[in-house]
Amino acid sequence: MRIAVPKEIKNNENRVALTPAGAQEFTKNGHQVFIQQSAGLGSGFPDLAYQNAGAIITPTIEETYSKGEMIMKVKEPIEPEYSLIKENQLLFTYFHFASNKPLTEAMIKSKAICLAYETVEKDDKTLPLLVPMSEVAGRMSVQKGANYLEKPLGGRGILLGGVPGTLPAKVLILGGGIVGTQAAWMASGLGADVIILDVSLPRMRHLSTVMPKNVKTMMSNEFNIRHLIKNADLIIGAVLIPGAKAPHLITRDMLKEMLPGTVLVDVAVDQGGCIETCKPTTHEDPTYTIDGVLHYCVANMPGAVPYTSTLALTNATLPYAMELAQKGWQEACDKYPELHHGFNIIKGDIVYQAVADTFHLPYVPVSYYLNHH
Ligand SMILES: NC(=O)c1ccc[n+]([C@@H]2O[C@H](COP(=O)([O-])OP(=O)(O)OC[C@H]3O[C@@H](n4cnc5c(N)ncnc54)[C@H](O)[C@@H]3O)[C@@H](O)[C@H]2O)c1
Repeated sequence: MRIAVPKEIKNNENRVALTPAGAQEFTKNGHQVFIQQSAGLGSGFPDLAYQNAGAIITPTIEETYSKGEMIMKVKEPIEPEYSLIKENQLLFTYFHFASNKPLTEAMIKSKAICLAYETVEKDDKTLPLLVPMSEVAGRMSVQKGANYLEKPLGGRGILLGGVPGTLPAKVLILGGGIVGTQAAWMASGLGADVIILDVSLPRMRHLSTVMPKNVKTMMSNEFNIRHLIKNADLIIGAVLIPGAKAPHLITRDMLKEMLPGTVLVDVAVDQGGCIETCKPTTHEDPTYTIDGVLHYCVANMPGAVPYTSTLALTNATLPYAMELAQKGWQEACDKYPELHHGFNIIKGDIVYQAVADTFHLPYVPVSYYLNHH
């Protein structure tokens, strides 16, 4: 198969959909890889590394798109790319259709096959191509929080782990899923006192058996939250209710109860945030302060560490991409049934119920395409 990897052109996106190691796996298996000039540079992979792996460097985005039977990307195509996408081309990338009507309409018109990373879903409801980015954001939330707790940056001026003879910082984590767990590992590793709040008892049972002694779990409810925020130094928002906006667990009035210089990192900002006063910020201007409480709410945290994020993402995508290249998109589902859920639009038909419902457009079950080959 011919696999093409365009350079990401969305603002501040430095990730790339394929590493030189991935390119080598494809070429070794008899596939051709076309990668746009400098596509890997933002993640630290020069063109030469891809060439050494057997890939062909294409000078322009137009040429890159024109070469591919499968297009591998990170972010959804943006407007200038719409006209480059052809009928029957397989696009494997993050799309997030439900929040983007122009993109949905453009992909319907293109008659391409759109396989969305974010909806690839296993039987146990886990999302294997979203997990790596949650892991990155979770670990990073503590790194950022520790940094902003420094006085010159607006924080309380407390070192996360303290030193002998002083108490460590108190870290409160709302939600003990992927983000919350990774945040807890980082914060506890630095010596902080950590409390994870969740509503799932099975989840907290699991966490209490695997986490170190300086991590405690507690039931998430308003009573406990109001009590704990009074002396927390760093609060991390990591709640997710699948398919819904995050609930506001910390409301505006609660900020007054907090210590001045408390740092809030709301990782759930991309789902509306679990802190009422949270609004999306960017890496250029990541923080703002309300009532003496510092807010960090960057909606695309993994974008700041493209090297790690690219490797983490491609570790997860490559096995699927390889099967798609070897067998084609219909038969690839035999080995990886979770790909079924990944198809959102096929040859002009919306095959993902939630996207069809969002835009009140007709829905065709994906089985129509998968059973007719
Ligand atoms: N900002 C970023 O760059 C970035 C990157 C990756 C993920 N995220 C976001 O981070 C959030 C968390 O993602 P995740 O992968 O950890 O999700 P997850 O599903 O693994 O975990 C969510 C957890 O929240 C818990 N929860 C639900 N309601 C709760 C409540 N009322 N109180 C406390 N806990 C509650 C659930 O039981 C679950 O354990 C999502 O909104 C995700 O989109 C943001």
